[in-house]
Amino acid sequence: MSRSKITRAPGALFEPVRVGDIDLANRIVMSPMTRSRAGDGLAPTAMNAEYYAQRASAGLIITEATQISAQAQGYIDTPGLYTDAQIAGWKAVTDAVHARGGKIVAQIWHTGRISHTSFHNGNPPVAPSPIRANAKVFVAGEGFTDTSVPRALEPSEIAQIVDDFRQTCRNAIDAGFDGVELHGAHGYLLDAFLRDGSNQRTDMYGGSIENRARLMLEVTEACAAEIGGGRLGIRLSPVSPANDSHDSNPQPLFEHVVERINPLGLAFIDIVEGATGGPRDIAPFDYDALRDRFDGAWMVNNGYDRDMAIDVITSCGADLVAFGRPFIANPDLVRRLKENLPLAEADPVTTYGKGAAGYVDYPALDAAE
Ligand SMILES: Cc1cc2nc3c(=O)[nH]c(=O)nc-3n(C[C@H](O)[C@H](O)[C@H](O)COP(=O)(O)O)c2cc1C
Repeated sequence: MSRSKITRAPGALFEPVRVGDIDLANRIVMSPMTRSRAGDGLAPTAMNAEYYAQRASAGLIITEATQISAQAQGYIDTPGLYTDAQIAGWKAVTDAVHARGGKIVAQIWHTGRISHTSFHNGNPPVAPSPIRANAKVFVAGEGFTDTSVPRALEPSEIAQIVDDFRQTCRNAIDAGFDGVELHGAHGYLLDAFLRDGSNQRTDMYGGSIENRARLMLEVTEACAAEIGGGRLGIRLSPVSPANDSHDSNPQPLFEHVVERINPLGLAFIDIVEGATGGPRDIAPFDYDALRDRFDGAWMVNNGYDRDMAIDVITSCGADLVAFGRPFIANPDLVRRLKENLPLAEADPVTTYGKGAAGYVDYPALDAAE
């Protein structure tokens, strides 16, 4: 039977599930969300720990995207996981989440061409090919600014990036994370290599689908070997135009990627359906064809509400549902969904940037409400 035809009892969204090597209290995931509030040296702070701990009733928290190296940065004040201070900062975060009974994985990224010279001492960011993305990044002093024209990575530099991903997975485990999600979506480096809109290389990392998928698969293999597939997931966004991401034929590309990832025994694949944060039906895509190629847990995301989430878990083949924006103003989102209580609206002004306002000051409902 097609895996997309599995059915479950009503209420399954709120019940425990084992995903790879990780036991979750429910099937509701906090989707990764950049909030640009890292502290000195791009290390997480006590306030970041409080924010994640407030949301620990999620079955799984996926952190904001986190750099694998200094070269990987593309936005102001996004955290890293490559220095001792960053690892120590994250350890306080994972301890706080675990103390509340939650589970948390680190989303790790290399932003690639979605970056700016100001993060690289005036030098260009790196990418598969020297093609500027028609996208904006947030830069100190300038606010939202056009991305810079990148330079193409030398073949000899690519092995270092694979190793940076591998080492960051090790650092994540040292920092107490339950696992890692590779950011393979939204036009960042791994996704930019996949797509012919951003990858026009003529070496073994460009051209055919097999070649364009090579970097993502090398990274996934190295990370699975380092921490075990059961603690690893990957996010893909097959048709999202986020960050000027485009490909002439995504269906066979992503079928190849999932087919090759499946033998690595990953805990989950996190699929952003449609345009991230926008229309779910932006382009035709057969997601069931991917789902049927993967034996691990299938996480879906993008614009889900309570009814859609219950439906996709009970009768449409998903194992987990990731909620992003609703978690900003509803730290107790799981309870609100379970008891069908009203959701609070987030203030868009405080989405990114310093400060506790709009970050750790959204209250949970009182127990009696
Ligand atoms: C403020 C904000 C920051 C985000 N940062 C990330 C990120 O760091 N990594 C990522 O993969 N997706 C990121 N996303 C996308 C969300 O994870 C999610 O895919 C998107 O919001 C759609 O889900 P939703 O409709 O439940 O909000 C971000 C979204 C928002 C609103």
